[in-house]
Amino acid sequence: MQEALRFRVPEAELIDRPDYVKQARRLWQGSEVGARGLALTIRGLRKSFGDHEVLRGIDVCIPAGQFVAIVGKSGCGKSTLLRLIAGLESIDSGSVSFGSEARPEDARVMFQEPRLLPWARVLANVEVGLGRGRKSADARARAERALTEVGLAEKRGQWPAVLSGGQKQRVALARALVSHPRLLAFDEPLGALDALTRITMQRLLERVWRDQGFTAILVTHDVSEAIALADRVLLLEDGRIARDIHIDIKRPRKRGSADLAALEGSILGELLRGGDERST
Ligand SMILES: Nc1ncnc2c1ncn2[C@@H]1O[C@H](COP(=O)(O)OP(=O)(O)OP(=O)(O)O)[C@@H](O)[C@H]1O
Ligand SMILES: [Mg+2]
Repeated sequence: MQEALRFRVPEAELIDRPDYVKQARRLWQGSEVGARGLALTIRGLRKSFGDHEVLRGIDVCIPAGQFVAIVGKSGCGKSTLLRLIAGLESIDSGSVSFGSEARPEDARVMFQEPRLLPWARVLANVEVGLGRGRKSADARARAERALTEVGLAEKRGQWPAVLSGGQKQRVALARALVSHPRLLAFDEPLGALDALTRITMQRLLERVWRDQGFTAILVTHDVSEAIALADRVLLLEDGRIARDIHIDIKRPRKRGSADLAALEGSILGELLRGGDERST
């Protein structure tokens, strides 16, 4: 019984435990590269697949270190926008440019599926995030630091197959963090998780973002998640940014509070109105 209970709650417990958080911060501050956010400017961005014009002129400036959430209906082009930002897809017209002295490895993407290598143990999966840097002498130490950051140091020798869904996503997060990205884009990274693990992961994302200062772009279909985490919510509709909403609610934000609920209601209303207009 005790075993079963211990097994069910550890992620929530470990991530919020003050001694663990302190340890993770100390490790991060002692690391060799100070991560700074990367500013992002998108001008007149368009993208079509065949005759289908998915993005019809996206214009937005994201300052370094900002946490931006992108919401919109299924199929409205959120993942496409993220793939263009990450350079995983070619641009038809317009531009995506980053702040000064950006290197290709400064931007990372984390997907909904953890995409771990099943034949590699947890630590080796994290080292993969170092790219060519995984041959360097300190690769292992860096991967261990990233695993500690997400509260999974004790799983370093495990195979991915024995991890829970939330743990796999934390390994994927460690793999994304290990190269100290200056911009981290998330494509519905928590979409497949149960409600409790999801909230735990949201807190983890917010903490690593605050501690490390990267620019965060989170695609999510969950408006309450967007409002809980982001400085700013972009509502994508008909291939354009229909609304750009700044969330001026102090952190830590209290889930279920009246101001968060009111904002959520207004954004949800907007999303639904867009759909009604299209279907009439
Ligand atoms: N490689 C591709 N080839 C053809 N069409 C594509 C391709 N990628 C995306 N599309 C189309 O572009 C549109 C936008 O897709 P996208 O995946 O960006 O939507 P999304 O907003 O991320 O949706 P969801 O919320 O369901 O993930 C869809 O109509 C999709 O079918
Ligand atoms: Mg998508």
